[in-house]
Amino acid sequence: MKKIKTPDYQIFLGDAAEALDKWLKKNQYASHFALIDEQAYRLHKKRIDDWCKKHKIKALQISVNEKLKSIRTCEKIWTWLMAEGADRHSLLLNIGGGIIGDMGGFAAATYKRGMAFIQMPTTLLAQVDASIGGKLAVNFKSIKNNVGVFRNPETIIIDTAFLKTLSDRELTSGFAEVIKHALIVDKKLWKKLNKIENLRAVNWDKLLPQAVAVKNEIVKIDPYEKKERKSLNFGHTIGHALESIFMKTKNPLLHGEAIAVGMICEAFLSHESGFISKNELTAITAFISRFYTKRKITTSQIKKVSQLVKHDKKNKGKKVNYTFLRGIGDFKINQSATTPSLEGSIYYYLNC
Ligand SMILES: NC(=O)c1ccc[n+]([C@@H]2O[C@H](COP(=O)([O-])OP(=O)(O)OC[C@H]3O[C@@H](n4cnc5c(N)ncnc54)[C@H](O)[C@@H]3O)[C@@H](O)[C@H]2O)c1
Repeated sequence: MKKIKTPDYQIFLGDAAEALDKWLKKNQYASHFALIDEQAYRLHKKRIDDWCKKHKIKALQISVNEKLKSIRTCEKIWTWLMAEGADRHSLLLNIGGGIIGDMGGFAAATYKRGMAFIQMPTTLLAQVDASIGGKLAVNFKSIKNNVGVFRNPETIIIDTAFLKTLSDRELTSGFAEVIKHALIVDKKLWKKLNKIENLRAVNWDKLLPQAVAVKNEIVKIDPYEKKERKSLNFGHTIGHALESIFMKTKNPLLHGEAIAVGMICEAFLSHESGFISKNELTAITAFISRFYTKRKITTSQIKKVSQLVKHDKKNKGKKVNYTFLRGIGDFKINQSATTPSLEGSIYYYLNC
C-alpha cells in the first residue's frame, strides 16, 4: 500500500478493502453510507457487498451521465440520507467515476452544512484527476460544474483493480488527464507516455503514482485556484465548451475526449502566441491523435464554442481565460485569445 500525504488528507494507493479497514478502524463516524455507481457496483458486486456488510454501510446505487449530474439527483441523495438517518457525524463513501465523486462530494459537503466523505474513484479519470483537490460540483443550466464548492475528502482510496472492468473508451477518456499532467509540468512523464502503444498493457500501479503526484503537488500549493492550479485547466476552456455542446447531441463526448480536442486547440493557441514551437505542436497533436478518433464539429458548433467560452468559470470580467503551454512540461496561466484565433484553433484540429 502506497501513501501520498497532503496537508489535509492522505491518498492510499493499493487494495481498497485494506485501506478502508484501516481508515474505519482509526476513525469513528456515527454511521456509514455509500453512494455507488450502478455499473461499478454490478461489475464489483462481491467486493463492495463484503465491505458494506463488514462496515455496516447503507448503500444507494445510482446510474450516471452528465445530465444526471444535477441538483435534482442531489435532492434524491439528500432525501435518501435523511430517510436513513444520516447526520453531520456520518460518513459518505463515494464509489464511482468523476460524476459520483463530484456529485456525491457536493451532496455530502452541503448536507447539514457538511458531512464527512471519502472518495473511492473507479475510473482512470477519477483516479488521476477528479478525486483529488476537493473541487465538487454539479451541472446547471447546461453549463458544466456550474454550481459547487471546494471541500476536501477525509481520504482518497485508489485501487487500480477497478480499471480492469473499464471500457476501452472510458480508459482512453481518462488517459487525457494523464497526458495533461505530463504536458503542464512533467516532461519525464511525457517521454514515458510517448512509449505507450496500448493502454490495456500499461502497468497502472506503476504509472498512476507519478500522474497522481502531479495533481497533488499543484493543489497543495494552490488549493483555491488563485495561480498554479489554473495550470490544470489546460485544454479545458475549449474542452468544456465542446463537452457542453455535444451533451445535447446524440453523440456526447466523454469528458476526457473533449479535453483531448481542447488540448490540441489550446496547444495551437500556445504556438500562435509564441510559447511552443511548431515541432512541439506537431508532437502533441500526433500523440493525442493516436488515441482519439477525430470528431466532426460543424461551423455552427464552432460559433457556439466562442459564445460558450464567455461563460467559463475561469473568466474574470469579459476576458476568456486560458492556460497555455510554455514548452512541454511548463505552463502559462491567465492567457487570452481572440475569437478568430479560437475558431482557427478548432479548424486546425479539424484539419490536422
Ligand atoms: N473535480 C474535479 O477536479 C474534476 C476533474 C476532472 C473531471 N471531473 C469530472 O469528472 C466527470 C467525468 O468522470 P469520469 O470520466 O470518471 O466519468 P463517469 O463518472 O461518468 O464514469 C464513466 C463511466 O464509467 C462507468 N464506470 C465507473 N467505474 C467503472 C468501472 N470500474 N468499471 C466499468 N465501468 C465503470 C460509469 O458507470 C460511467 O458509465 C465529469 O463530470 C467531469 O466534470 C472533475
